[in-house]
Amino acid sequence: MVKLMRVLLVGGGGREHATGEALVRDGAELYVVSRHQNPGLARLAKGYGLAKETDVGKVLAYAEKFGVDMAFIGSEAPLEKGIVDVLDENGIPAVGPTKAAARLETDKAFARSFMEEYEIPGRKLFRVFDDVSEMRSWIDDFGKPVVVKPLGLTGGKGVKVVGYQLRDNEEAKAYAEELIRKDGRVLVEERTDGVEFTFQVFTDGKRVLPMPLAQDYPHAYENDEGPITGGMGSYSCSSHLLPFVLKEDYEKALETLKATVDAMRKNGTPYRGILYGQFMLSREGPVIIEYNARFGDPEAMNVLPLLKTSLLDVAEGIVDGKLGSAEFEKKATVVKYLAPKGYPTNPVKGVRVEVDEKAVAETGAKLYYASVDENLTLLGSRAIAVVGIADTLEEAEGIAQSAIGHVKGELFYRRDVGTRESVEKRIRLMGEFGREFEPNSC
Ligand code: GLY
Repeated sequence: MVKLMRVLLVGGGGREHATGEALVRDGAELYVVSRHQNPGLARLAKGYGLAKETDVGKVLAYAEKFGVDMAFIGSEAPLEKGIVDVLDENGIPAVGPTKAAARLETDKAFARSFMEEYEIPGRKLFRVFDDVSEMRSWIDDFGKPVVVKPLGLTGGKGVKVVGYQLRDNEEAKAYAEELIRKDGRVLVEERTDGVEFTFQVFTDGKRVLPMPLAQDYPHAYENDEGPITGGMGSYSCSSHLLPFVLKEDYEKALETLKATVDAMRKNGTPYRGILYGQFMLSREGPVIIEYNARFGDPEAMNVLPLLKTSLLDVAEGIVDGKLGSAEFEKKATVVKYLAPKGYPTNPVKGVRVEVDEKAVAETGAKLYYASVDENLTLLGSRAIAVVGIADTLEEAEGIAQSAIGHVKGELFYRRDVGTRESVEKRIRLMGEFGREFEPNSC
């Protein structure tokens, strides 16, 4: 029997469009609050409130006005404001961690100390400094390449790595000093060499249900060049592994996420919602680079269209502490984001784009709206995503690529997301980092 449950989705990006679609598919009556009116969500929703997602008072007021039974929080910024706590205090259960539990993402010093205290496997050596001379002498004594990170939320843009954005440890010290002067503190970690991957799980605070692995393309331009963005696209394989992530790596990474959920419960800050482990696969195995307290964007668009279990049932299981199972189709997926020219540093805004939805549908691709308003005017961030889904990566990539041409405007995208060449490059890199392995097919 179809359940009628009123759900408030907080957020209006591509990740939320995919979330809203899955909730409606499973019988939810959808309501949305976001800063702009996402045209895809507007079509799915029974009611739409315009407010900043971080304005907890306004979100609560909309939740009460719409009379929702449950909320689903899309992004990290409202989690940092304690939106789940406030909704819960007002009788509205929400999918997402409390403010204290979301610190796994919102406070990197907390995340690292917590991993140390509970001996979470796959953790890195780190230090937090508020003193410039201590920081400088630690980096000198350490002697190996480091990573410098601001402690709070930066939309993935403040992290700098020696050998990439920083030439050497001298530049790392200068950047760390700049952050101490600006923020009062800085996180310095050992650099881990390897290839990154995304592992997302559902959890009710006890049970952990894995989703297919995905790989994000964070650089703005092809061949992994240019500034770091929120992610220009991502792919996943029908095996739910990745070509360079073997079954034993998958098991180890899952162990890290399960140990994290167990330790959060012991810590008195039970974690419920979606937990996203950003891992680096090193020669020695998976190392956790960061936690995120929500679905990835774009990675939500890799996994949600494959979810065979009702997302509504999963959401209820999360808030009731009775998570059952989560089954995913064995398909490959490729997401390609179209972003305004100039993104992320100087994006074109205020001009309209054209989308031939019928032609996109004819290619077999899915389309999700993100940072465009109801008139398809660009708002400055990643604008529209197309998703190919098929038995093989090659077919999925071809489908996504054929849909791209039906979206026109002052936009750019990465042709190489999910292509055979770019995936082979990642396999090669793992080899160069000293790993001998037989790649999985995708
Ligand atoms: N795609 C990276 C993220 O969602 O944080």
